[in-house]
Amino acid sequence: MKEISVQFKINGQQVKLKTRANRRLLDVLREDLGLTGAKEGCSVGECGACTVVLNGQAVHSCLILIGQADGAEITTVEGLAKGQELHPLQKNFLEHGAVQCGFCIPGMLMSSYALLQENPKPDEETIKETIAGNLCRCTGYKQIIEAVEVTAQELNEEK
Ligand code: FES
Ligand code: FES
Repeated sequence: MKEISVQFKINGQQVKLKTRANRRLLDVLREDLGLTGAKEGCSVGECGACTVVLNGQAVHSCLILIGQADGAEITTVEGLAKGQELHPLQKNFLEHGAVQCGFCIPGMLMSSYALLQENPKPDEETIKETIAGNLCRCTGYKQIIEAVEVTAQELNEEK
């Protein structure tokens, strides 16, 4: 398989690598860059566990060929906290009991993060639509929706 050179900015750092063209962004994140926050659930774009933010959009990294990431700006769950300080979404997920087994949570966080970047005051319906592509077998979603709502309120109060 042909190798290609790709470069992109990930969590604020420029990365350049050579890799087989048929690898997915998810593989490169987890295997080459050690960013194991994005999880592999279904591998076919159904569960959302692999969600990352690419050029401002929440995407399923299991469906992105590495060449499609060339020149992109990517944020993964590892890029949310500032040092030891959790992102308000992470803090509120914890405080509102929105995390149980945790498998879906990196994807939930990244979908919610992309939403709040684009729409700082989402209503409940919008939050539900946003995370509709992120499956959670544990929490029942209510606490997750609450955590996103509270984060939006807090971020708006800070402005
Ligand atoms: S692993 Fe990508 S959507 Fe399920
Ligand atoms: S917390 Fe377990 S799948 Fe969501």
